[in-house]
Amino acid sequence: MSEIVRVGVIGAGRIAQRHFRAYGENADKAKVVCAADPNLRAARESAEKFGFKDIYEDYREVLRRDDVEAVSICAPTALHPVIAIAAFEAGKHVLCEKPAGLDASLFRKAMEAGRRSGKVFAMGFMERQMSNAKVLRDLIQSGRIGRPIVARTAAFGSTLHRIPSFVDAEVNGGPFIDMFCHNVDTWSCAFEAKVVSVSANGFIMSEQSAARAKLKSPAIDTGEAVLAFDSGDLGALSAAWSLPDLAELNLLKKSLGDSFLGPKGFILGGVRGTLRVVTAQGVEEFPNDGIDAAHRKQVSAFCDAIRKGTPPGAPPEAGLYTLQVSLAVLKSIREKRVVRIEEI
Ligand SMILES: NC(=O)c1ccc[n+]([C@@H]2O[C@H](COP(=O)([O-])OP(=O)(O)OC[C@H]3O[C@@H](n4cnc5c(N)ncnc54)[C@H](O)[C@@H]3O)[C@@H](O)[C@H]2O)c1
Repeated sequence: MSEIVRVGVIGAGRIAQRHFRAYGENADKAKVVCAADPNLRAARESAEKFGFKDIYEDYREVLRRDDVEAVSICAPTALHPVIAIAAFEAGKHVLCEKPAGLDASLFRKAMEAGRRSGKVFAMGFMERQMSNAKVLRDLIQSGRIGRPIVARTAAFGSTLHRIPSFVDAEVNGGPFIDMFCHNVDTWSCAFEAKVVSVSANGFIMSEQSAARAKLKSPAIDTGEAVLAFDSGDLGALSAAWSLPDLAELNLLKKSLGDSFLGPKGFILGGVRGTLRVVTAQGVEEFPNDGIDAAHRKQVSAFCDAIRKGTPPGAPPEAGLYTLQVSLAVLKSIREKRVVRIEEI
């Protein structure tokens, strides 16, 4: 067997571009040989840009190839578990983009298919690979800002107008599924804790808008959720993904930022950017090594898991757990009550 892992990429949209690039930057470990996307133009443009030949409309063509050992799943969220099951049944290793789909029981079936196949199953939680993910964990675990902590993040934007499929409940699921799974994963790693229950309120903003009318199934796109961790820490998620598409949205986004508030100080910023720790001893800054490096390391860890049996960057259990938290938030909004994660 060659040392180089031959890869097919399924879905050739935005996030796939990062996968293509990351495989290229790991040329000693992997090579993309084909891609599939029902939008053949997207697949063709990727093939031309990243130097591979074969493209398909149907991802099953990728899975039929004996020379393809591994796939990256970069299709819309609803398809993640469906494609993962088919890939494991075809004997492929899987690097699956987050989130773990829209349905926890379907993702459990994907995990079972992965176990049966004995192949590597990695989830695309690339924040885990960022240098500041370790810095954040070390800061929190060393007690620099004390415990318990309130972690806060916000996702505000005009997603409804820019990429409507991301506020479709049947395609990508809206912000509580799509965006916050990163925060839940990163906070859980940093706290070394798990969310036990959630309490949330929310709604679909301006249900009557023309943009919304084009969606098959509008997702809850606006709301506030509080996550209770078994460590006593809290997480607060604020979402508004259907704001008007104004240039000044940048001002709003700049005015917000992630923060971690503790009894001995606070940390400003999320792991994707610079972290600033503020305590009575002063301010200390930690620059991050960036998103490209994170994707490069994620692909490297995936290839090492295949060839050397080392742990993949993020295991599928992280996918299931973060999806359970997201679904608990949506259930809490719908049923107007506190929801425990074990109910999902
Ligand atoms: N890790 C991250 O930070 C990150 C960032 C962005 C997106 N994502 C995730 O990646 C996924 C894709 O997001 P995106 O922004 O690239 O969306 P996108 O719409 O840009 O790309 C999705 C692509 O999948 C294609 N597709 C649709 N059905 C398909 C099928 N049956 N087989 C193969 N391809 C199919 C579409 O034609 C499209 O080109 C989502 O689940 C999203 O949550 C992860």
